[in-house]
Amino acid sequence: MLDKNMPIGVLDSGVGGLSVLKVLRRSLPAEDFIYLGDTARTPYGTRTEQEIRGFVEQMLCFFEQQGVKLVVIACNTLTVLGVDSLKKNHPFSLVGMSKGAESLLAASHKKKVGVFATPFTIGTGAHRAAILAADATAQVVPVACPQFVPLIEGEQFEAPALTAAVKEYTDVIKEAGADALILSCTHYPFIADKITKALGPSVTVLDPAEETSAIAKSYLAKQQLLRLEQGVEGTTKVCFTADVARGQRLTHYMMPRTACSFALVDLK
Ligand code: DGL
Repeated sequence: MLDKNMPIGVLDSGVGGLSVLKVLRRSLPAEDFIYLGDTARTPYGTRTEQEIRGFVEQMLCFFEQQGVKLVVIACNTLTVLGVDSLKKNHPFSLVGMSKGAESLLAASHKKKVGVFATPFTIGTGAHRAAILAADATAQVVPVACPQFVPLIEGEQFEAPALTAAVKEYTDVIKEAGADALILSCTHYPFIADKITKALGPSVTVLDPAEETSAIAKSYLAKQQLLRLEQGVEGTTKVCFTADVARGQRLTHYMMPRTACSFALVDLK
């Protein structure tokens, strides 16, 4: 039986989902959160579907042991597998990342929009299909960005390799003349400032975390599982499957001044 005092689980292949946790904490301050990043096996976006499905099931079993009331799949690469197919018999519901198609089109005057995501996500064509379902006349520029996740996980924020990768991928958007871009990998908000700067003021850059958080909130409200106590601050436990010290640094990079506890988790 789910109860509103249970925590909310948030998962990702690594540190990327922290960009979603940040938004969730702001919009649901009284909730307790447990974050799980599979830093031992990141990145997922260059792996096979079979491998990724096995990893996510291990993470969902972990959350079942933790007694959560909801799991937010803070990973686009997992979301495009279809959250219904990931749920299995777990007692909690899953909320995946919003594809943000309507907001992206609303931000584009030219109806020419870009999508940055992992090779896996781009390969499924899920975002392109969602955008075209919202407006069949739209032009979509999908860009797989395989270099970003390893550089972000490796804290290479000032490395020339990151500057070169940002240039390579943003040049595709500029050359195509798109005027709105969605960051459909939860790692990319870590470098949103660099992407935005490289694109210049004529391109609007969107992060679907706000929409995802609103979907999670409305689901909890409908199920009467929402904690809304005024003045209560929930707890945040951040777990990684390897390299907790690095995870801790990246957590503080994404969420400075946030009180969190940290733990190492073995999923096998
Ligand atoms: N952060 C993830 C996403 O949103 C996956 C990154 C990866 O492991 O490749 O797609």
